[in-house]
Amino acid sequence: MTTETQPGANPRVYLSGFGNEFATEAVPGALPQGQNSPQRAPYGLYAEQLSGAAFTAPRRENRRSWLYRIRPSANHPAYQPHPQGLLRSGPFDEVPVSPNRLRWNPRPVPGGQVDFVDGLVTYGGNGDPATGSGISIHLYSANTSMVDRVFYDADGELLLVPQEGRLRLFTELGVLDLAPGEVGVVPRGVRFRAELPDGPASGYVCENHGAFFRLPDLGPIGANGLANPRDFLTPVAAYEDVDRPTLVVQKFMGRLWASQFDHSPLDVVAWHGNLAPYKYDLARFNTINTVSFDHPDPSIFTVLTSPSEIPGTANCDFVIFPPRWMVGEHTFRPPWFHRNVMSEFMGLVHGVYDAKAGGFAPGGASLHNCMSGHGPDQASYEGAINADLKPHKIKDTLAFMFESRWVIRPTRFAMETPTLQSDYDHCWSGFQKAKLP
Ligand SMILES: [Fe+2]
Repeated sequence: MTTETQPGANPRVYLSGFGNEFATEAVPGALPQGQNSPQRAPYGLYAEQLSGAAFTAPRRENRRSWLYRIRPSANHPAYQPHPQGLLRSGPFDEVPVSPNRLRWNPRPVPGGQVDFVDGLVTYGGNGDPATGSGISIHLYSANTSMVDRVFYDADGELLLVPQEGRLRLFTELGVLDLAPGEVGVVPRGVRFRAELPDGPASGYVCENHGAFFRLPDLGPIGANGLANPRDFLTPVAAYEDVDRPTLVVQKFMGRLWASQFDHSPLDVVAWHGNLAPYKYDLARFNTINTVSFDHPDPSIFTVLTSPSEIPGTANCDFVIFPPRWMVGEHTFRPPWFHRNVMSEFMGLVHGVYDAKAGGFAPGGASLHNCMSGHGPDQASYEGAINADLKPHKIKDTLAFMFESRWVIRPTRFAMETPTLQSDYDHCWSGFQKAKLP
C-alpha cells in the first residue's frame, strides 16, 4: 500500500503494482474469504464477476475482478440513445483520410456547463470497436463535475492524459486522483464519475479497443527500468450508498446510450482481482538513452503498449518525451528526420518539445501518418547542428505520443476546426540545399 496527499485533500491510500491480484474492502468483513461466490455474500452484498478477458484467455492475458455490491448491476431500466456531441468511433470514414501532416492549436475553454463526457471531442482513430482493434483519440475539456451522472465505455479501456486541472475519478473500484503529469487507465466497462477539484480541466484520451495496455518487454535493458511495476497505483475499495436518480451513460459500438437508474451504481463495497483502474506518475519513468552517440529509436520511451498479433507491431504504444539529459557526442540530438510505417499522434502536457521551436503548444496536438516525412523544424535543426555538445538537460517538458500500426484517420471535426493550423508544412520549407563538392 502507498499513501498520497493531494493539495487540499485527505491522504489517499493506493495499492501498488502493475496488474497485481488485489483484495480490498471498504467495510471490514465485506470481502468473502476463500471463495468468490458464497451462498450468501457478507451483509447481503451481491457478488458479480467483471471479466475483461475471455474466460479461457491464457493466464498472463486473463484479467477479471469480483465485485461485492449493494445492488446487482443488472438492476436498471433499458438504455436509450443519448446525444453524441462530437464523440466519434471507428470505422472512421466521415472524411477522406489525409496523408498531410496535421497540427492543431489547443481547444478554447468551452462555454456553458460542460462535464467530462459532454466535453469529449474525437480527433481521429483507426480500427473498430466492433472488431476489437484500433484506437480512438479524444480530447476532453470540461468546466464542471459530473453530478448524478456516471459513464462507462463498453468499447475499450480509457487511457487518460490530463493536461490542465486535476480529475478525481470516483470509479466502481475506488477513487483515483489524477493530476497533470500523471496518467490513468480505466478498464473497459468500469463505471466512473469525473469530478474537477480545481475547476476547468482538459487533456487527452486514448480509447483502446485492442489488447490491454501492459508494460513493454525490456529485452537487453534487463529486469528494471522504463516504467517500474511498483509505481502503478490502484485505488482501494470505496462506495456510495445513494438512492437518487443517476443517469448512467455508456459508449457501446461507437454510440452513446443512457439509462436513468434510481440509485448510484458506484456501490461496490469490496472487490478482489486484477482488472482495476490504475494511475502512474510519469515523473517516475526511468528514462534510458544513449551515453555514447546517436540516440535510440523513441520506442525506448514506451510507458505502456497494447500489442497486436504481430510481435513488436503495436495496436498502440504510449510513449513519452520527458525531461532527460542529452549527452550524445558528435550527434544530432533532437529527433531526426524520419518516415515511419507506424502512425503518430502527439500531444504536449507542458513545456516545449525538442523537435519544434514553435507552433506546438501545450494542449495542442499533431498527427504524422504512415510514411509522411517529418522531424525537426528549421529553427530546431539550425540550433542543433550549431550546438555546443556539452551535457545538457532538457527540463520542464512533457510531450507524448499515441503510436499505432494503423493509419490514424481524422474526424470531420479535426479537419474543419479552426484550431487546425493551415501553415504547418511551412515549418519545413526553409531548409538550404546540401552543398556537394
Ligand atoms: Fe515522428
